[in-house]
Amino acid sequence: RKKVTLGTIRSLYKKGEPITMITAHDFPSAHVADAAGMEIVLVGDSLAMVALGMEDTSEVLVEEMLLHCKSVARATKGAFTVGDLPMGSYEISPEQALETAIRFIKQGRVQGVKLEGGREMAPTIRKITSAGIPVLGHIGLTPQRQNALGGFRVQGKTSSGAMKVLDDALAVQEAGCFAVVVEAVPAEVASVLTKKLSIPTIGIGAGNGCSGQVLVQVDMAGYFPPGRFLPKFVKKYGDVWGESLKAIETYRDEVKTRQYPAPEHTYPMSREEFQTFTE
Ligand code: KIV
Ligand code: NA
Repeated sequence: RKKVTLGTIRSLYKKGEPITMITAHDFPSAHVADAAGMEIVLVGDSLAMVALGMEDTSEVLVEEMLLHCKSVARATKGAFTVGDLPMGSYEISPEQALETAIRFIKQGRVQGVKLEGGREMAPTIRKITSAGIPVLGHIGLTPQRQNALGGFRVQGKTSSGAMKVLDDALAVQEAGCFAVVVEAVPAEVASVLTKKLSIPTIGIGAGNGCSGQVLVQVDMAGYFPPGRFLPKFVKKYGDVWGESLKAIETYRDEVKTRQYPAPEHTYPMSREEFQTFTE
């Protein structure tokens, strides 16, 4: 597979071909995403919940993100790989953000970084991109700010809310983002944004009018136990958890009944050697 670059993403956008993006959190989940031809693989800070069992994304540290970025980057031979700057690692100043972004490139081995926020983040985005590090924006519902937003709720539902999302989109484009994730906004609003912008919009819960789509791999592949809450926008394409459960239960049963290991899973020894051994 040829490595996806910003040039590839630009040409898909120009052709009007939807850009495919998915999260990965470790070597195997990145490997399968890359093999499936995803153009962008995101090491999202959603790994806090889906891989580390934390309550929300505010808990995950830069060091933890870097460990996972490294393992993902070892598998993404084709996909353009982006690391999510975690809460607390970029908001203090553009300098702090650039320092963190440089660590993501040098230690995390990703090709770009993502950060949440709109117009207020423009100087930060400018600082990082001026150092030659591609930045993916993230507007609409920004989960790192869930406490200020009053939870996970749709953004831009009112005309003034929609104006704010549009203003944020234009600001992060102007500041130099190569694309922008638009999360949980009405499809109509995301479509208008997409028409007004000259960079790709990557939608999640933002309808079918965006330049591309992103989903959390663990959610779309069904790699979670029954009963987990899924947002309305997630489509469950598989049942990885169910498949793993079946496999492990079968293994357990075959060990208990001595069906496993069978002769074909066993190393043989010649009769003579065994005889000498036991004499
Ligand atoms: O952390 C994450 O997985 C994300 C995507 C859902 C865009 O930010
Ligand atoms: Na995220």
